[in-house]
Amino acid sequence: MASPPFTASTKAAVFLIVLFFFFTSSLLCRPSTAAEFVVNGNDGWVVPPSDNHQIYNDWASKHRFKVNDTLHFEYKKDSVMEVTEQEYEKCLTSGPLFFSNNGSTIFVLDGPGLFYFISGIMGHCDRGQKMIVKVLEPKAQSGNDTSHDEGEGGAANNMAAAVGFPGVLLLLISPFLVVFPL
Ligand SMILES: *[C@@H]1O[C@H](CO)[C@@H](O)[C@H](O)[C@H]1NC(C)=O
Ligand SMILES: *[C@@H]1O[C@H](CO)[C@@H](O)[C@H](O)[C@H]1NC(C)=O
Ligand SMILES: *[C@@H]1O[C@H](CO)[C@@H](O)[C@H](O)[C@H]1NC(C)=O
Repeated sequence: MASPPFTASTKAAVFLIVLFFFFTSSLLCRPSTAAEFVVNGNDGWVVPPSDNHQIYNDWASKHRFKVNDTLHFEYKKDSVMEVTEQEYEKCLTSGPLFFSNNGSTIFVLDGPGLFYFISGIMGHCDRGQKMIVKVLEPKAQSGNDTSHDEGEGGAANNMAAAVGFPGVLLLLISPFLVVFPL
């Protein structure tokens, strides 16, 4: 028995699907909770070993930082400075944007982009105690997505990852639930 197009049950199915997307997208748009990262783990904010000056940028590249995540610097007899890129390159400690030396510094990554950190102790930055942290742009919420590495498949995958397998399953079977009520 073939049903004509746009029967009541088809409309109901479409309505359910729209409702479902509305529901899941409202979940997706909830602000994600901020994370705290302990810089360099248990080793903390120290002068790197002489054979590996890259430990901080290696550490930073292993993590994804979002706006409002925090960096927790743990150290003894040292300090943390946030500086400009030029100061970072030259290890200049004369005019930091941020300075703390109390041994347990919490720094809020309060915007997207690059943050440059160095030790304020003479010679430490030159020996590699410096780090660049890249904070990701918040996800575009109005379709103004300027990134080109994510096609429709990527968006669908993100959706699937966000709602999880049960959600996708429910989405797929919802038309049948309407046409053939349980
Ligand atoms: C970050 O925190 C500030 C202050 O709490 C808040 O106004 C802002 O919306 C937050 N930004 C994001 C992307 O969560
Ligand atoms: C050190 O300063 C930070 C702010 O940079 C503060 O959040 C933290 O509680 C202070 N820690 C101590 C041990 O005083
Ligand atoms: C869209 O993105 C561009 C580039 O990031 C930005 O300059 C522009 O203000 C954005 N527009 C809206 C409506 O968010």
